[in-house]
Amino acid sequence: MFHEKFAEGVISAKQFDREDIEYILKKGREMISEKNSNLLRDKILATLFFEPSTRTRLSFESAMYRLGGNVIGFHTGDVSSIKKGESIADTIRTVENYSDCIVMRHSLEGAAKMASKFAQIPIINAGSGSGEHPTQALLDLLTITEECGTLNGLNIGLMGDLKYGRTVHSLSILLSNYDVNIYFISPVELRMRNRDKDFLQQRQMKYKEITDYRKILNILDVLYMTRVQKERFIDLEEYEKVKNIYTFRADDLENTKGNFRLLHPLPRITEINPNVDNSEKAIYFKQTYYGIPMRKAILAELMKN
Ligand code: NCD
Repeated sequence: MFHEKFAEGVISAKQFDREDIEYILKKGREMISEKNSNLLRDKILATLFFEPSTRTRLSFESAMYRLGGNVIGFHTGDVSSIKKGESIADTIRTVENYSDCIVMRHSLEGAAKMASKFAQIPIINAGSGSGEHPTQALLDLLTITEECGTLNGLNIGLMGDLKYGRTVHSLSILLSNYDVNIYFISPVELRMRNRDKDFLQQRQMKYKEITDYRKILNILDVLYMTRVQKERFIDLEEYEKVKNIYTFRADDLENTKGNFRLLHPLPRITEINPNVDNSEKAIYFKQTYYGIPMRKAILAELMKN
């Protein structure tokens, strides 16, 4: 049962086998057509965001309200006692007394995992440093399956900052449960880390690493672009070298299949030119919508009695 298996919460995409993914996608799909409900009436969600967020926090909060629940939280470490020197562990041991589930974003890669060790209530990882962002990956899969009809057999490009981008880490882990052809598209400096590739190889995922997306654009069904993660670079000169490495433009669309779809977790900086936005192939704003049904499904599963 999902509820029991995920009693600690949703920390990593590695927790999900194919059956779990199919189950939660089905629940997400059911939420698309559901109006507001009272499923989580009297429940309280705590959102602890130590890093900036627009979509993740607001969609979690909106999802909770749409399920009839309540939200407490803070949106910068500056206003919590962490600023005074309090540990994450003590913060979690406190907030769990005030809520039924905690959504947390933090710059440390192991933060959500650590929090789950100290909490008796479920923790949802809303982004842990360069590590993972599992609920984004679930909403990405919901977007792809709803908009492309299937996952199996697709040629999917993951492009941009594959080294520091947590969304692509979680998404590739989830995709390793499916029969898909993956193209990791990045400059050499921003390739997937070896430890991430080792994991995907163990799962026998089929992938290729390339630098020029134009070479394969005509065979892709899905291109998932990402921002170069400026805040993770130790040396900003290195960031300057790669920051404008890719810019997808409207004329690139001419070389794509009719059913091609362009996704991005957002925020986008310069990697997609705004002249692409009006194409029906550009579905990154639709993708933000799917955050609501997906997160409603996750919250409902974790907090239902
Ligand atoms: C992503 C994140 O925070 O990792 N944003 C999001 O949650 N939609 C992507 C990013 O910041 O580049």
